Amino acid sequence: MLSAYGEEHRRLRRLIAPSFTARRTKAMQPIVEGIVAELLDAMAALPSGQAVDLRAAYAHPLPMRVICELFGVPAHMREEMARMMEAIMDTTATPEQAAATAAQIGTVLPALVAYKREHPGDDLTTELINVRDNSAAGVGGGASLSDDELRDTLLLLIAAGHETTVNLIGNAVHALLTHPDQLRRTLAGEIGWEAVIEETLRWAPSIANLPLRFAIEAIDVDGARIEAGDAIITTYLAAGHDPDQHGPDATRFDATRQGEEHLAFGIGVHRCIGAPLARQEALAALPALFARFPELSLAVEEDRLAHVPSFIAHGWNELPVHLHR
Ligand code: HEM
Repeated sequence: MLSAYGEEHRRLRRLIAPSFTARRTKAMQPIVEGIVAELLDAMAALPSGQAVDLRAAYAHPLPMRVICELFGVPAHMREEMARMMEAIMDTTATPEQAAATAAQIGTVLPALVAYKREHPGDDLTTELINVRDNSAAGVGGGASLSDDELRDTLLLLIAAGHETTVNLIGNAVHALLTHPDQLRRTLAGEIGWEAVIEETLRWAPSIANLPLRFAIEAIDVDGARIEAGDAIITTYLAAGHDPDQHGPDATRFDATRQGEEHLAFGIGVHRCIGAPLARQEALAALPALFARFPELSLAVEEDRLAHVPSFIAHGWNELPVHLHR
């Protein structure tokens, strides 16, 4: 879907778009809040005084569990699925590691499909399998999906629904902890959590760059010529820091900016389908985290933090914090 064009793209997107409407997303709210509460309880039960990796304990498991619920990924497959999704985003992998990940994609996703054929449920994998099987049998009113498209759609959605939201939560926590004045104003209710989330998306978008696009026809962009067939990388991080759009202080995190739009979810026909879900998860995760641990602070100097090893995903590999002073 991400790299398909025209009618092919519309066909693939139409299949899953109804599952990501604002209404369907809202229906996920109790599940999201339940997972948030469970993760916070588990963190609260840790021995006090010990540094906690907020990515591993909170930012990572929440989106992973939500997406696994949506797609009916059984418990015994979740860990391997999560490791595979991280490996896909790792753009520092050697050719051998990349080949191993490609081979893993070829076994893990067919295994999920085989499992869901035997154990169908009220989930998106089962829905997509039904479209696949009905199109193979020539029924279903025109919707169609090949085996490869079924695998690639599952891969795109599970990967996109997972790593990106992990980094949105991690990046927002990092932004607030390194800008104490804005954290204080947020906790005092002067700055809304929605504004914190949107400013995080602009300042530190979960996807910094996105490859896998090719120009359909020649285009001129402000005097730069892109020829038909040229590979294109869209750079959301650069767009968010563009001084022409966001002013001379574009590189500063400032959640009090008024009404500025960002491109972190892309634009046009390929615009992110999961944006309402990502925003909902962040909106459930962030206020609840700071309400439970109002003294949350970084446990290491900021310059000791390392980014995830990727030029696509943009976030922190680990986020060590103290839950209490
Ligand atoms: C903070 C979280 C997220 C960010 C920053 C993000 C960002 C993006 C971006 C930049 C694109 C490409 C848009 C373009 O080319 O114009 C995209 C596409 C997409 N995203 Fe997301 N995404 C996030 C969460 C999610 C979630 C939770 C899901 C689903 C569960 C999802 C599913 C998709 C899909 C299926 C596409 C391809 C749409 C198409 O090609 O028509 N994303 N996303």
